[in-house]
Amino acid sequence: MEYGIKSGSADKQRGACLVVAVFEDAELSPSAQVIDAACDGLITTLCKHGDIEGKTGQTLLIPRVPELQAERLLLVGAGKQADYDSKTLQKMVSATMRALSSGGIKNAGIFLAENRIDGTTVADRVQHIATTATNALYKFDQLKSEADKNGANLKKLTLFVPERGDMKPARVSLDTGEAIGRGMKLARDLGNLPGNICTPTYLASRARDIAKQNDQKVRILEEKDMADLGMDALLSVSRGSRQPAKLIIIEHKGGKKKDPPVVLVGKGLTFDAGGISIKPSAAMDEMKFDMCGGASVLGTMQAIGEMQLPLNVVGIVPSSENLPDGAANKPGDIVTSMSGQTIEILNTDAEGRLILCDSLTYAERYKPAAVVDIATLTGACVIALGAHASGLFSNNDDLADELLAAGEASRDRAWRLPLWSDYDEQLKSNFADMANIGGRGAGAVTAACFLARYTKKYDWAHLDIAGTAWLSGGEKGSTGRPVGLLCQFLMNRAEF
Ligand code: BES
Ligand code: MN
Ligand code: ZN
Repeated sequence: MEYGIKSGSADKQRGACLVVAVFEDAELSPSAQVIDAACDGLITTLCKHGDIEGKTGQTLLIPRVPELQAERLLLVGAGKQADYDSKTLQKMVSATMRALSSGGIKNAGIFLAENRIDGTTVADRVQHIATTATNALYKFDQLKSEADKNGANLKKLTLFVPERGDMKPARVSLDTGEAIGRGMKLARDLGNLPGNICTPTYLASRARDIAKQNDQKVRILEEKDMADLGMDALLSVSRGSRQPAKLIIIEHKGGKKKDPPVVLVGKGLTFDAGGISIKPSAAMDEMKFDMCGGASVLGTMQAIGEMQLPLNVVGIVPSSENLPDGAANKPGDIVTSMSGQTIEILNTDAEGRLILCDSLTYAERYKPAAVVDIATLTGACVIALGAHASGLFSNNDDLADELLAAGEASRDRAWRLPLWSDYDEQLKSNFADMANIGGRGAGAVTAACFLARYTKKYDWAHLDIAGTAWLSGGEKGSTGRPVGLLCQFLMNRAEF
């Protein structure tokens, strides 16, 4: 799909379809007013007759309007004008893409960036529309014998901006929004691929491609390299699997040579059966998504590569499987992490923190400006926050605030939880420096407290995306989160 930016009066535009917003109580968006005036009050009449109420995401396709140059008109509900926000915009764009796809429409001019949202510019809204539209068109049909043809006709989407002067910044935002959309698509594809295809070796080879396409440096550490570094916590997890672990490192050098980088570390468990502490079989297939943190790092690295973001960023993805096997970790085993701290593995299913802790120690060598890890770390986080917000933990309030703000702006939100020493004490072990689990209470917090023991040397934040990285049930599939949050965070840092 191709995108474009244009400015001009809605009643004068040609093309297969125009899309304008209608609020509840027959309040019309600026472009809907223009069309209404040109068409003898058509939209007002439709509102009066109840053909469209304006509820968020409601659509009404009008096949032919004689007074218009365009072939069709699509009205899309924008809810109550007073409540209009970026969530409404997101719902409207998704509904628009559904209507255009099912209508077999080839191209459309959409007038949705014009409606004001507090704290945003026209360009911000263009970025948001481009990302949302790209995501709305997403499908995962590469493993079906017949391609899904829905939406295949749609070739071009033109985003209209109110003033000619909006066009230049809007073009930049459009590119950014598309890059984020493609980064999310990459993360979703990797997440949706099954464990027998998406192995640590597969992830490493995809990382090579991404880096190559975007002028980034890539390095893959093999198990022998990790052994030399003393990463026994990480290697203890992969010992139970026939797939060799990989530590993927991508470096994006967009900033000044001496500027310390932001380091992103993503959990890349390509399948988590739990190991000897094996998981129940119901929904175990969803543990192919346990690499979504890693996928979000790769998606983000691709997006900032395409944007040529002027910032130094390092992406690190430790990748392994967690399976039961004669060589697998056993409850009670004690391993020594790269940091020198010893860990009693009381539950082999708490493996994410084992591969992350060594990666976080490895990150020290970059003398980072900040480190953010992203992990589908705990079922407890799903219970705490559900699918709406990622759990955020940080040893630095400014960094936490930056991530919260980036989440709000990108509609990919996070919510902060504590890292108090009261919780950290739950990790006490009688036999090692710490246990890898902290008991029944506050599982998301004790997991984060575990990681905090490996991140004392730099500003650090942890995003637990166990609830946000994928959806279950009928719409089962990867969401691409938190690529939106991460890109926005990095863009803000680069003042891009
Ligand atoms: N990958 C899981 C976390 C998870 C579980 C995410 C369910 C999404 C849905 C992680 O490796 C894990 O198994 N965590 C355990 C930790 C426990 C043993 C302390 C969990 O949450 O049950
Ligand atoms: Mn696990
Ligand atoms: Zn896991």
